[in-house]
Amino acid sequence: MSAAASCLEDALDDLVELRPFPGAASQVIAVSDNPDATAREVIGIIKQDPALSLKVLQVANSPLYGFSGEIRTVDHAAVVLGFRTLRNLAISMAVGEVFGSGDSITAKARQDMWTHALSCGSIARTLATAAGSANPDESFLGGIVHDVGKLFFFDYQPEHYSRIVTVDTGKNSVTAELETFGIAHPDVGQRCGQNWGLPDEINDVICFHHEPLATDFDGTLVGVVAAANQLTKLWCDAPNDDGATRTDILNSAGIDLSPSEEEEFERQALADMIAVGEAYGLT
Ligand SMILES: [Fe+2]
Ligand SMILES: [Fe+2]
Repeated sequence: MSAAASCLEDALDDLVELRPFPGAASQVIAVSDNPDATAREVIGIIKQDPALSLKVLQVANSPLYGFSGEIRTVDHAAVVLGFRTLRNLAISMAVGEVFGSGDSITAKARQDMWTHALSCGSIARTLATAAGSANPDESFLGGIVHDVGKLFFFDYQPEHYSRIVTVDTGKNSVTAELETFGIAHPDVGQRCGQNWGLPDEINDVICFHHEPLATDFDGTLVGVVAAANQLTKLWCDAPNDDGATRTDILNSAGIDLSPSEEEEFERQALADMIAVGEAYGLT
């Protein structure tokens, strides 16, 4: 192993210390993994963290869920939204916190990544609902975390990686990362997700979002998030590297629509995306 590769390996080993998951969210994940866990335990953990409680209530009361201003307590949120939605909300809040911390040099790039993550999560939820395939909440969470491995490179080489992701080199990020670091963000992100204790199917999304057919799982969730990632680039960021059209991408997620239905889907997905951005405090 070269000196650079072994240095990178050492840094990866330190991943947990570099990017700890906020305490309350870690506890929520740990409790949710326990088959004997009760909703009351999850509620108890969230309530112990006032900042997290506030953020959960803010999103629960957003137009996203149709209960504007009616949900005043975490207990009430659990009743109307359900246990899994509450768990996923708490995790997505924590991921936002993780994206928010790091070197000031990378602040703009990390903010752009968080916007991309939220957009992808929102489009994944709309896609899953339209296709009636994957769980919409799980799809949202998968979209939120799919590129989380990029955060590691921001920590490891802030200036260099900021240039890689912000300058259009004509290469996609996976190719550029492999050339520079010998490892790319899907693999790094999966290690990160495993260290945090994220559910296996979410770690699978992180690992295979650029090659959804390679997954060992049934592929539905990965397929939805992979398609959402492509649509996010098509609509918000930059053209897709492979020139895939809206129809190609929707077909890959199992959605076959007429041109006018596709127009309506895009209108709905973009309206949902704006609502998610507002709920999560994006300006
Ligand atoms: Fe990616
Ligand atoms: Fe992405």
